[in-house]
Amino acid sequence: MNGNEPAFLSLLHISDLHFGPPFHPEVAAALLRLAPTLNVQGIIVSGDLTQRAKREQFIDARRFLDQLPRLPTLVIPGNHDVPLYRIWERFANPHGLYKQYITDDLQPILRVNDAVIIGIDSTAPRTAITNGRISRRQLEQVAAAFQAAGEAKIRIVVAHHPFAPAPDILKDKRMPFSQRAIQQFEELNVEVILGGHLHRAYIGNTLDFYPGRHRDRGIIIVQCGTTTSRRGRGRESEKNTFNVLEIFATTIVVNHYMYFSQSDAFEKISCHIFRRFATN
Ligand SMILES: [Fe+2]
Repeated sequence: MNGNEPAFLSLLHISDLHFGPPFHPEVAAALLRLAPTLNVQGIIVSGDLTQRAKREQFIDARRFLDQLPRLPTLVIPGNHDVPLYRIWERFANPHGLYKQYITDDLQPILRVNDAVIIGIDSTAPRTAITNGRISRRQLEQVAAAFQAAGEAKIRIVVAHHPFAPAPDILKDKRMPFSQRAIQQFEELNVEVILGGHLHRAYIGNTLDFYPGRHRDRGIIIVQCGTTTSRRGRGRESEKNTFNVLEIFATTIVVNHYMYFSQSDAFEKISCHIFRRFATN
């Protein structure tokens, strides 16, 4: 399907690191060994770097990020990166430690190899601590950011919380107003949505659950499992996973990796190929 044409962009997508009690150091070490061999040009971290948004957890997360290959990297916060029990802090300065140790940009933009990737802060520390939100204002900001970024060979958005329900009908919910967001992303020619939060992978298409206006294509959804914690759920209970995306002119390939304790290594277990429909 790809012939001999090279990918113009490869991305490592990890998520839900959960530094703190659930963090799994052996698995993280396996990722750090493998990452330099993956031949990617960018790294996406889709939230929940810590378990309880504590200073020492952010320090450990920062140290881990610094050990990844030195590549353009986009990081967004998850709901575990704002304090749950330190209520005063949650209301007064929910992202204070995240900003201090990870990045002070809560809506980062990554331009790499003619791709434009926009991160969205879907945490809602004051209203929806677990399930997240995406506001109309954020959607307007995303539209403006894509416009300002100019021509792109591909547009991608990243948000911690899911726009699609988990397909295994555990009780997770998609974010409220997800369909409004998806419609907006379709209008913007976004081709891929990256996320986390569910602690199990889901690689599919918005058409799987929402017909949308353009029923011929939809948007590819890539939900990452927990890459380095013991909090895997459902089919990925006690499992750790990540993805490598390869973007070609005519296709998008999502390679799904899982950690195996027998080999103490991440191994590729599936490969998902999608045709691209965008004309830009
Ligand atoms: Fe998480």
